[in-house]
Amino acid sequence: MTQRKILITSALPYANGPIHLGHMLEYIQTDIWSRFQKARGHQCYYVCADDAHGTPIMLKAQQLGMSPEQMIAQTSQEHQADFAEFLIGFDNYHSTHSEENRQFASDIYTKLDQGGYIKRKTISQLFDPEKQMFLPDRFVKGDCPKCGALDQNGDSCDSCGATYSPTELKNPRSVVSGATPVLKDSEHYFFDLPAFEQMLKDWTRSGSLQDEMANKLQEWFTEGLQQWDISRDAPYFGFEIPGAPGKFFYVWLDAPIGYLASFKNYCDKTGVNFDQFWQKDSDAEIYHFIGKDIIYFHSLFWPAMLDGAGYRKPTSVYAHGFVTVNGAKMSKSRGTFIKARTYLEHLNPEYLRYYFASKLTSNITDLDLNLEDFAQKVNADLVGKVVNIASRCASFISKKFDGTLTADIAEPALLAEFTAAGETIAESFEKREFARAIREIMALADKANQYIDAKAPWVLAKNEATLTEAHLVCSMGINLFRVLMHYLKPVLPAMAKEVELFLNDELSWSTYQTALTNHSINVFKPLMQRVEMTKVEAMVEGSKDNLQPTAAVAPKAAETKAAPAAIVAADGAIEPIGETITIDDFAKLDLRVARIINAEHVEGADKLVKLQLDLGNEQRQVFAGIKSAYQPEQLIGRLTVMVANLAPRKMRFGMSEGMVMAAGPGGSDIFLLTPDDGSTPGMRVK
Ligand code: MSP
Ligand code: ZN
Repeated sequence: MTQRKILITSALPYANGPIHLGHMLEYIQTDIWSRFQKARGHQCYYVCADDAHGTPIMLKAQQLGMSPEQMIAQTSQEHQADFAEFLIGFDNYHSTHSEENRQFASDIYTKLDQGGYIKRKTISQLFDPEKQMFLPDRFVKGDCPKCGALDQNGDSCDSCGATYSPTELKNPRSVVSGATPVLKDSEHYFFDLPAFEQMLKDWTRSGSLQDEMANKLQEWFTEGLQQWDISRDAPYFGFEIPGAPGKFFYVWLDAPIGYLASFKNYCDKTGVNFDQFWQKDSDAEIYHFIGKDIIYFHSLFWPAMLDGAGYRKPTSVYAHGFVTVNGAKMSKSRGTFIKARTYLEHLNPEYLRYYFASKLTSNITDLDLNLEDFAQKVNADLVGKVVNIASRCASFISKKFDGTLTADIAEPALLAEFTAAGETIAESFEKREFARAIREIMALADKANQYIDAKAPWVLAKNEATLTEAHLVCSMGINLFRVLMHYLKPVLPAMAKEVELFLNDELSWSTYQTALTNHSINVFKPLMQRVEMTKVEAMVEGSKDNLQPTAAVAPKAAETKAAPAAIVAADGAIEPIGETITIDDFAKLDLRVARIINAEHVEGADKLVKLQLDLGNEQRQVFAGIKSAYQPEQLIGRLTVMVANLAPRKMRFGMSEGMVMAAGPGGSDIFLLTPDDGSTPGMRVK
């Protein structure tokens, strides 16, 4: 087998939010593939970084009262801690806000400019006169120009689905300050994407692109490629454009360049030859793993930028679908918007690695994390089938045969069947058909268990005459287990390590076909606990506690990718800002004026305030996630509006019997609605 040179990346997560289980699909998929390639003996590197630039990051840092540098440093640590615990084996983790990235971005831009691929054009854009900044589409809200629906985003309407320019909105206002935006001219820099059309078409046909992606690209070619606006005016957190003071690279220009920067940073530390991978005639392979929402950036802009600046293009871009939980988009209110950290507080990371692997294919369809199915599958497959093989065979060998396996293999044909499957399993991994690989591995696990059931070594062991046979059967079982664990090693690296200790052996593609005979093993320790549904439920409850009352108005990082409508439509990362409800839904809300008669800190909850509310004829207790904006003392005596008929919810700290309303751009600027002095507790608010 010839050794391949492979560079693998995952998309760079935004530095202003936590890693959640949707993200984890991507990092787990990429990590399994990277571990597999390394196990096969290839020269393979897996790099990533935080995506640290852009307006949302700048504003979030402001809200937190930090510098963007402080905030991204803190987020980077949190991200890396999450990834490490999920056993994501990056060779390097860097940042787009790095010296390497500044150099590459400047250099690539300069080459593109010299090549005549940068155009300058004055455009008119919405400007926030209070904040003195231009507003990205998603930072403008207003009424839909087509159907009139209130409070819609700057680029599309959640009610009628129309897409438009933010300048078309009726009653526009800035999400940042609330001010009415004005139009203002500014010179922008554009990357001449249409100049690369033929090159991109050729690349699409030559590469190993997924069918769905090739089709998508075909659609985009038919629609016609557009000039791409790559500059943003100050204030902006990013890199200033060389020779253009006050102008910055748009975050999506330097984000993919972060792949180069992270790899360069790695090469400088280790002596790996960077150019061998990225120069034009390189024979190395480069793969980008991404979600389906960012295909446009990776399959059009990025290859064109690389080509225009004299670099080679990626070998392929592999997109995956989106994670849904229990059949629906991840939702904060249902507790299915689960942060990586919250998961880790309750469950073993390898459960999720296995579950995702068991469902991942090479295509772009969404993947449902059904929590019941998750528990059931992990328990049935890993605990019930795989670990069971070893636990049924091990103790007997330890107790009666001093931990030594037999010199002979009881059923060479059966073992040969297990090892022969290695090539098709490897092929499935190679093609990112992980679900197929797992199915084949589990079918073998069933066979191994059937073998042990049929031989019943526990019966054989009772009788002196059949003791040797029992030894043979159990040694056989251990060998079958060893082959399976070897196949599962890219998916379950921590458990594989435990198994290596148990077997006194390294699980490796160069040795797994040779059976372990006359070999001494160690005492078996339980390798994996069952998933307990109570822990899964606790995780969901814990996710509900992460109340984010400002989510209704604060734009999220993902929205910086607002680009062609087709992509925005596919973006399902986060709950839509305003899911529409019918008038009947609205009628169900019982909104009441309430007086806050007491407000206190909640021990052990950094976001919650415990409120005692007077509704005129009754009192309610409500836990509200507004601590970041208020000292409880300030609230006492004030009026607010509450949803009085919300089903009571048991929280860790007690019952919450309703919900109070709060609004604002997010972070510290939450304003409790303060109804007119004329209202009295208990009044209905509609
Ligand atoms: N910063 C950009 C990527 C720049 S790459 C040069 C970005 N960041 S992100 O944090 O929003 O997303 C990171 C990756 O996670 C993306 O590939 C995205 O598709 C993926 N996912 C985010 N939410 C997801 C799900 N719910 N499900 C599956 N993947 C998800 O985009
Ligand atoms: Zn509309």
